[in-house]
Amino acid sequence: MDAKLNLPVLLGTNRNLRNSVFPARWLVGEMQKRPEIQTRLFDVAEFALPADDYGQEIKDCFPEWRDAIIQADGLVIVTPEYNHGYPGALKAVLDLLLKEYIHKAVAFVGVSAGPWGGTRVIESMVPMARELGLAVTFTDLNFPKVQTLFDAEGKLLDAAFEKRAAAFLDELVWMSRVLRWGRANVPSKFHS
Ligand SMILES: Cc1cc2nc3c(=O)[nH]c(=O)nc-3n(C[C@H](O)[C@H](O)[C@H](O)COP(=O)(O)O)c2cc1C
Repeated sequence: MDAKLNLPVLLGTNRNLRNSVFPARWLVGEMQKRPEIQTRLFDVAEFALPADDYGQEIKDCFPEWRDAIIQADGLVIVTPEYNHGYPGALKAVLDLLLKEYIHKAVAFVGVSAGPWGGTRVIESMVPMARELGLAVTFTDLNFPKVQTLFDAEGKLLDAAFEKRAAAFLDELVWMSRVLRWGRANVPSKFHS
């Protein structure tokens, strides 16, 4: 029960000038301050996805990601909002795996240039995450007008986000702990 929770973070866009990298890096820093969490940042831009193949058949081409999710207790997805949806590269990385996600928690960070902080993209991801077997937390973290929130060095300019991130992580930690206990103690055909 007390072992560190393994909670990788996935940065969901490969856009050259992406601002989502700033919330992703900042959140990893916040997570690293918490003794109960072990994390690392995965970046969809670093996945050499083939143009002519897709899905679980190629998961062994990405062993670090595969093994990280096998060992994970939960996952944080940092997604920008692109026309109210999520980037194709993010979906392609998520679709590399399936059974490895089952009965693990997922928490969403929405990032947008507009005033809604990615609320629409998060809502659109919930059915997809459910199909992956992930259990969605209900405390999101939203970065609206992200272009105004960080300085050139990536320093967050608004301290209010610390409290929001704490609530977001508290919920993810609770869900991840409960699900880890459940996977270990409650029989299911999806895990032994
Ligand atoms: C293809 C595309 C579509 C976008 N659609 C939206 C949108 O629907 N709502 C919004 O608030 N911002 C939208 N944006 C702006 C992004 O939210 C903005 O670039 C923000 O910084 C997060 O994305 P980034 O990490 O790529 O920078 C869009 C950007 C792109 C590249």
